[in-house]
Amino acid sequence: MSMTITEKDKKYVASTYARFPVEIVSGKGSVATDSSGKEYIDLGSGIGVTAFGYSDDLWIKAVTDQLGKVQHTSNLYYTDPCASLAEFLCERTSMEKVFFSNSGAEANETAIKAARRYGAEKKGEDHFTVVTMEKSFHGRTLTTLAATGQEAFHRLFRPLTPGFVSVAPGDAENLLKVCREEKACAVMLEVIQGEGGVNVLDKDYVRTVSDICQKEDLILIIDEIQTGNGRTGQLYGYMNYGIKPDIFTTAKGIGGGLPLGATVLGEKVKDIFSPGDNGSTFGGNPVCCAGALNILSRMDEQFLSEVRRKGDLVKDMLSGKSGVLSVSGMGLMIGIETVRPAAEAARECIKEGVLLLTAKEKLRLLPALNIPDEQLIWAVEKIIKVLGQEA
Ligand SMILES: Cc1ncc(COP(=O)(O)O)c(C=O)c1O
Repeated sequence: MSMTITEKDKKYVASTYARFPVEIVSGKGSVATDSSGKEYIDLGSGIGVTAFGYSDDLWIKAVTDQLGKVQHTSNLYYTDPCASLAEFLCERTSMEKVFFSNSGAEANETAIKAARRYGAEKKGEDHFTVVTMEKSFHGRTLTTLAATGQEAFHRLFRPLTPGFVSVAPGDAENLLKVCREEKACAVMLEVIQGEGGVNVLDKDYVRTVSDICQKEDLILIIDEIQTGNGRTGQLYGYMNYGIKPDIFTTAKGIGGGLPLGATVLGEKVKDIFSPGDNGSTFGGNPVCCAGALNILSRMDEQFLSEVRRKGDLVKDMLSGKSGVLSVSGMGLMIGIETVRPAAEAARECIKEGVLLLTAKEKLRLLPALNIPDEQLIWAVEKIIKVLGQEA
């Protein structure tokens, strides 16, 4: 007898994920269908990846058109999707140059390399420390784990890459002190900590950090892997804060479902890399870039204002409801502090036909940015019902 998808996965796939008992076989927009034919409204979008939902027609066309031309060539040659996507990113953000890779962790690795090189050239090779925030999340490689300010991720994988210190967000004086003591080259942060619990960093604090970086000639790296690409109702999350980073990194939603990472470099570091300093076989893949260009070029101001409106709608629906302690986030990046344990509530929501995420002790919603109101409202009503029930 042949094995089910779940049985096969449990037998052959490394057990790094605590999967929910759902076998996804197809999807359209914000509706996912499992192997039994049951439909779900998906409020997780592959952890903030499928910005326009499953199997979006325009994205499919952009990707398949490119597949029929060139699916891959090495980075020894030029391709239009890669160059055009870089142009788009720079023009929409007033940044200067882009390095493409395949994932968020790699985008952050590149940002750290750029910052260290800047520190070494400007101040000396002992200026290599990157100051990050407690409760941050920057990836799973040994270097981005070191950058991640959560001890739980470090255990059992030591030694991690040296040269990272995390500070509690909110205390700018301490940050300045640590940067000086540690001979830092950079500060790295997420304006809304996603995995850490949808913690929105204070605007004054982030602006003060940006000022400190300018005065002290430190590279300000903003990790926009989860907050980027329209998620918060601005093209990039830092745009809600009135600051301009020296580097921002992104991945997830930019590719619409195909793997793509980007490290976007500002004036100070635009020419920090020379040929041979960094590289990636698949980085800037023409199919991924063609899809990304299609996704990003549809995120105009009208689209972004809809993301903000939908986020406010969800917050209004949830606030004051029984079982809801607080709601955090911006745009369609929403955390719900619950009376019931979040993981248990998430499992109940799945039974009700709603896929969602957790982040620490909260429920986390990252729906597709184009989710229709009816589907969003239906799903949030189910969440309210589940949270109002006794455990
Ligand atoms: C803020 C942030 N940075 C980095 C990463 C790592 O991205 P990836 O899993 O694509 O390597 C994530 C993934 O969840 C993230 O949320």
